[in-house]
Amino acid sequence: MIQTQVVVVEAPAELVLRRAGDADAESLSGMLTSQPDLSLYMRFQTAIGRPPRPALLQQLVSPNGAAWIAERDCQVIGHAMWAWVKGATVPTAELALIVADPEQRRGLGVQLLTEAAHHALAAGADQFLVMVSAMNDRVLRMVRRRWPTATAEREGALLNFTIPAADFFATVN
Ligand SMILES: CC(C)(COP(=O)(O)OP(=O)(O)OC[C@H]1O[C@@H](n2cnc3c(N)ncnc32)[C@H](O)[C@@H]1OP(=O)(O)O)[C@@H](O)C(=O)NCCC(=O)NCCS
Repeated sequence: MIQTQVVVVEAPAELVLRRAGDADAESLSGMLTSQPDLSLYMRFQTAIGRPPRPALLQQLVSPNGAAWIAERDCQVIGHAMWAWVKGATVPTAELALIVADPEQRRGLGVQLLTEAAHHALAAGADQFLVMVSAMNDRVLRMVRRRWPTATAEREGALLNFTIPAADFFATVN
């Protein structure tokens, strides 16, 4: 007798990418709290607490630039932001992001980064700053491969990459 096994495969819930606001602080806090220490350290370069401090969450949802939330099934799975770098000689937007571990390697990081960079460009940024831990191999590779013209400056445990806006969009994919 031949038995037929029926396997039901559920399609992944739709990805929603939208601007962040004050109301997202709590759900973002939940997502960050569930991330491994290493991911949090790579994003913030310091211990941020579990849950993160309210003052930090406020900066993440309402920076002096703009912030985005990625959601699937009404759950926060990613966050990206840009913020003006104070005292920079040319208008410079710092870009930063985090994607929930199970959602990584599906293109969401680059999608979030591109969204934030487009917005910063429209707001007047001439260049982008990406501050990467010298131990963050995957982001170092990502930056160096995509933006070979980026200049890097060492600052303690960080490598600060400056990417001219024109170069960013020439090679973002
Ligand atoms: C960095 C980060 C946001 C990338 O998110 P992502 O959704 O996985 O990114 P993408 O799927 O768009 O992939 C981007 C690149 O990272 C690489 N990458 C992502 N996860 C990886 C992993 N676990 N191991 C190796 N490479 C990885 C991808 O291969 C891709 O590189 P390529 O295009 O040169 O092949 C995510 O890994 C993360 O949140 N890390 C912790 C926080 C952090 O480091 N933030 C950045 C500092 S500002």
